[in-house]
Amino acid sequence: MNISTASRLANTGEYYFSRKLRELAALNAAGANIISLGIGSPDLPPHPSVIAALAATASQPTTHGYQSYQGTPALRQAMASFYQRSYGVALDPATEVLPLAGSKEGLMHIGMAFLETGDAVLIPNPGYPTYRAVAEICGAEVREYDLTAATGWLPDLDSLAESDLSRVKMMLVNYPHMPTGTPPTPEFLQKLVEFATAHDIMLVHDNPYGFVLNETPPMSLLAVPGAKEVALELNSLSKSHNLAGWRVGMLVGRADWLTEGLRFKSNMDSGMFLGIQQAAVAALALGDDWFAELNATYRARRELVRELLAALACEVAPGQTGLFIWAAVPPHYADGYALSDAVLAEARVFLTPGGIFGSNGNGYVRASLCQPEDVLREALERVKNQQERPTALAETSHN
Ligand SMILES: Cc1ncc(COP(=O)(O)O)c(C=O)c1O
Repeated sequence: MNISTASRLANTGEYYFSRKLRELAALNAAGANIISLGIGSPDLPPHPSVIAALAATASQPTTHGYQSYQGTPALRQAMASFYQRSYGVALDPATEVLPLAGSKEGLMHIGMAFLETGDAVLIPNPGYPTYRAVAEICGAEVREYDLTAATGWLPDLDSLAESDLSRVKMMLVNYPHMPTGTPPTPEFLQKLVEFATAHDIMLVHDNPYGFVLNETPPMSLLAVPGAKEVALELNSLSKSHNLAGWRVGMLVGRADWLTEGLRFKSNMDSGMFLGIQQAAVAALALGDDWFAELNATYRARRELVRELLAALACEVAPGQTGLFIWAAVPPHYADGYALSDAVLAEARVFLTPGGIFGSNGNGYVRASLCQPEDVLREALERVKNQQERPTALAETSHN
């Protein structure tokens, strides 16, 4: 039988890390013992109160059924309170908060609810690869906007405003920015809202990194006056609360847009297990102590990862925030792919080539902070030993 794949997948391959992690697992199964500084999956556990809430709910006989498509009132209230406390943003928990099984999934809900053939979407280059995949799967035209070191990894909104934006329906934005670690400024967020308002563009702000190694208070785009008219925001407990595998996120903002998101989502999933929702309520109640401890751990790790990157002669710009370090590759490697391949082959350490986030990332690699210090020390030793050997696999590009 010959069954063709739907044309909506014509431009979309398997997710990079889905492929790459399988490749690394196969190498490990053959005894390679690779240290991965690839994905941003926190290795640390959630707070004990979060696990206790899950266990308590799971041990009840009556908690195992389908849950509301909109999340429990308690979870929506906890999310609204978190926004008020963290960002000074008031949200109506009944209409302006939609709990999600992960913000990656939320991106697809938004795309499916609002994008179709004929629409254009602005996405960052470099940026989270899911933005492009969502736009392409939904049949929309992808228009990349450039982020470069020269502009501080912020979009040039003035020159974008001079281009033909008539078909642009949505702009995806993500600050603190992954992969570059660039934090937002209030002025930039303000300008973004003005830009979107002037050109009738829906802003979707993806905001999962605000609580990790952020020297400034975390910011929400919705705190900008007028933003609630033009913007939705995604947030996530994956990185801030060490809950990546549990799949908890949220979509917040305009009630009528959330209603449309729910129209798609309620046909996709059947709610989250009550135990996870109760655990998320406990997580969202955690205060500054939780983040202080988390960030003390990441700060120590950051020093070791910086040393590792320095040993590779990579350059790290100051002021980065989030769960990764973004580093410019030295000229003796053709690009980030070449460096990543060489370090994997010779030191058995995996760094993500920056090119997977878009062409403006070609000269970079991204290193995750999601490994304990002893593992990072081992990675550093391996890299230093590799650098002392004369056979570095430089000068090859696999772009
Ligand atoms: C920029 C960005 N957005 C969204 C996500 C997805 O997070 P979640 O676990 O909430 O789906 C990630 C995860 O790596 C990310 O880097």
